[in-house]
Amino acid sequence: MKKLEIAVIPGDGIGKEVVPVATKVLDTVAEIHGGLKFEYTEFPWSCDYYLEHGKMMPEDGLDILKNFNAIFLGAIGNPQVVADHVSLWGLLIKIRREFEQSINIRPAKFFKGLKSPLVNPNDFDLIVVRENSEGEYSEVGGRIHRGEDEVAIQNAIFTKKGTERAMRYAFELAKQRRGHVTSATKSNGIFHSMPFWDEVFNEVKADYTDIQTASYHIDALAAFFVTRPQIFDVIVASNLFGDILTDIGGAIMGSIGIAPAANINLNGKYPSMFEPVHGSAPDIYGKGIANPIGQVWTAKMMLDHFGEQELGQKLLDAIEDVTNDGIKTPDIGGTSSTNEVGEAICSRLKEVCSVS
Ligand code: NAD
Ligand code: IPM
Ligand code: MN
Repeated sequence: MKKLEIAVIPGDGIGKEVVPVATKVLDTVAEIHGGLKFEYTEFPWSCDYYLEHGKMMPEDGLDILKNFNAIFLGAIGNPQVVADHVSLWGLLIKIRREFEQSINIRPAKFFKGLKSPLVNPNDFDLIVVRENSEGEYSEVGGRIHRGEDEVAIQNAIFTKKGTERAMRYAFELAKQRRGHVTSATKSNGIFHSMPFWDEVFNEVKADYTDIQTASYHIDALAAFFVTRPQIFDVIVASNLFGDILTDIGGAIMGSIGIAPAANINLNGKYPSMFEPVHGSAPDIYGKGIANPIGQVWTAKMMLDHFGEQELGQKLLDAIEDVTNDGIKTPDIGGTSSTNEVGEAICSRLKEVCSVS
């Protein structure tokens, strides 16, 4: 029996609604597999926890998490009660940083049964490799003066190691896909970091002569996501550019509630973390209508991570079938609830797997 110990952090808002749906789906997958078992330990770390304890997780939170095989997270953030920079840096970004989850993989593809807002949505299939530990997300900087002369300084940090690591990951991934890597740059407008980014990209690409490449400024690239996403295979982007691109990736599929993400620790020292791209969606929390697909697809990425690609693919197919059958939450034009979509995915999986 392959037993996987998963730390579950539902977090805030709709994280608390979609995570239980996804763990039920994972249990169904394990049942079908027969030799796989997920053991969950749930942690209530969230903005509510902060209100009670004055911190987002206990002092030894990371020590507790580091012994798990993976972390399965919903979403963090309730800006009405805790400022986002406090809640996110106190939990989500802390885990990504301290556990050296340097790569964030975020796929988007044409999805059967979904109404994409694109004029020509047919058959796009792309993956954004988002640099996940540095770039524009840095604590270096500060605020000086007060009043009219106040200044906020935010320094972006791009190390050769971190930049090259993300790029090499993208090239290796492209080898297993359609052999194309696009670099998201902005070397016309950003003086130091992006010309450096281009230099590293050119160095790395010299080692991958079989891979085709392109380089677009992020502004044009974001527009191409909307006008012709079919030109992309793997895209490598800095932390902030990748963040923005991947909400667009969700939107062109039909809803940001669908998009999944995997924060990967490459050196094997710490667990990787699986979470959807979307946030805690306070505007719809409590209504039972959150789309669980992003969280369930994230579970599929966790299955892939543990070498269960075949079942992972079956899960993704089941999600598509259910969507195609019209069992959908309101954000994608349906009337089903979060739980109904989850139950339909479990039933579909059982059906497919009993006949194969
Ligand atoms: P959001 O992703 O929570 O919501 C944006 C819009 O998309 C909202 O209209 C919401 O209703 C909709 N939406 C998101 N997920 C959905 C789903 N599964 N089904 C249906 N609709 C969905 O982004 P936001 O409003 O900018 O942020 C809200 C909070 O979440 C903030 O505190 C923010 O910092 C946080 N956040 C956390 C994460 C994370 O934990 N990984 C990611 C993004 C935002
Ligand atoms: C994401 C989120 C986070 C990010 C926020 C909540 C800090 O937007 O995971 O996409 O910017 O990385
Ligand atoms: Mn984001």
